[in-house]
Amino acid sequence: MELTELVAAGGHEQLVAFADERCGARGFIAVHSTALGPSLGGIRFWRYRDEREAVVDVLRLSAAMTRKAAVAGLSQGGGKAVVLWDDPHSPRDEAVRRAIGRAVHLLGGRYLAAEDVGATQADMDGIFLETPWVTGIDPANGGSGDPSPVTAWGVLHAMFAVCEARFDDRDVEGVRIVVQGAGKVGAALARLLVERGALVTIAETDSDRAARVAAELEVDVVPPQHVLETECDILAPCALGGVIAAEHVGALKCDAICGAANNQLVDDVAGEALAERGILYAPDFVANAGGIINIAHEWAPGGYSLERALAQAAGIEDTMRGVFALASADGLSPARAAEETARRRLAAEGGAPYVPGEASAMRDALLARWRV
Ligand code: NAI
Repeated sequence: MELTELVAAGGHEQLVAFADERCGARGFIAVHSTALGPSLGGIRFWRYRDEREAVVDVLRLSAAMTRKAAVAGLSQGGGKAVVLWDDPHSPRDEAVRRAIGRAVHLLGGRYLAAEDVGATQADMDGIFLETPWVTGIDPANGGSGDPSPVTAWGVLHAMFAVCEARFDDRDVEGVRIVVQGAGKVGAALARLLVERGALVTIAETDSDRAARVAAELEVDVVPPQHVLETECDILAPCALGGVIAAEHVGALKCDAICGAANNQLVDDVAGEALAERGILYAPDFVANAGGIINIAHEWAPGGYSLERALAQAAGIEDTMRGVFALASADGLSPARAAEETARRRLAAEGGAPYVPGEASAMRDALLARWRV
């Protein structure tokens, strides 16, 4: 397929290429939809085989952000940026950050940048030197800081809906939960679960981290390679995406899956296979929306407040209930029901694409903090 055909097939509004010869920064920004408001999504620094692979990734990721924001009830659309970067963990200098910032700025607020894989707050602060259309900057300048506690809080509330639907009791007390990945979100989630009396086990590839979290929370550890076959009530993927493929489904020993990782299912077939086996899947982009809910509070009236962000993220419980109810009513898998929920909101509330300069409280708030 030609690149323009890919853009058309995904229904994207815009695909932008940027390159700065002096510092070598190059990448793509995709705006999938601004029908509900300016698009929001992270910047991913990644080693891509070639530019085509980067374009395919940015188109796929930006479309997923549209669904995530729509289901979370935010007035945002979906966008994403990818930067071709050989070693995702090697830091960027100011010239690169500024070059990305200028590319973001030229979109005039149609795309709001955020952190994604490989990106840091320092990157966001560097981008902020060139544009107000960036989030996750230093809290001293109005940024929302690390979203992980809010993401974990949202996943916990998604689990309440899962427990209610699967075990007829919203309470997680006594529920056996395996958390895959005890990183920023996974460790925070494990702590929230332990505090509520859940029986938590963690699996973590970094053995030092596994030992530290296990000692702190007094939880069991399973080797990461055995996580899918560990008997439990809920499996909580909080590491990387692509954990569940259709061929794994037969071996799973859980009743439900609910975690923070993006793109947990390898494909749609995996979602159908889970539904057929009676394993309740809490769609990842519904469960992990606490991260973007947290960002959206940067332009809430009165400025960012962790308390208000947590309160809104708790609403993920009701959203997830709604997804499960739609799945039962229409005979859909939860993954498809979540996509349908996004489609319906866009059909009911979506407007014309966002035009740079259109007045909004969000625009005023972001401009005000940039000029101070
Ligand atoms: P992180 O990098 O802090 O934690 C991931 C942890 O998983 C690391 O400790 C890593 O060693 C471990 N890990 C990697 N592969 C593993 C495996 N095969 N088995 C067991 N452990 C493994 O990342 P973070 O921020 O906690 O995010 C976790 C997931 O949630 C990611 O997929 C991320 O995209 C997603 N997410 C995170 C949000 C946030 O607010 N941080 C928001 C929305 C989604």
